[in-house]
Amino acid sequence: MLGPAEAQIKVLLDGRAGTAMASLRRLSDVELAAVTTYTRNAWSNQAEQGLVLPREYAAVRK
Ligand code: HEM
Repeated sequence: MLGPAEAQIKVLLDGRAGTAMASLRRLSDVELAAVTTYTRNAWSNQAEQGLVLPREYAAVRK
């Protein structure tokens, strides 16, 4: 996902119902921010927001 980080954050925290995409909320905010940042820059991806911070996960995680 290259769009708004919040949409991607929600997929990783909650998974996607009805698909094989499970929740990854057992990972820490630091781990999730790292993997999200990786996907936004690897494979020639150039997301507008390339850096996702742990505090962005903390804000969405409840
Ligand atoms: C670190 C591991 C993973 C990350 C970071 C990740 C991330 C994501 C993201 C961001 C999306 C949403 C893509 C979009 O809507 O544009 C997605 C969708 C999906 N993921 Fe994962 N995923 C991971 C592991 C897995 C695994 C292990 C499976 C299956 C065994 C899986 C199955 C799926 C499926 C089927 C979708 C599509 C759901 C749909 O059709 O709406 N993911 N994943």
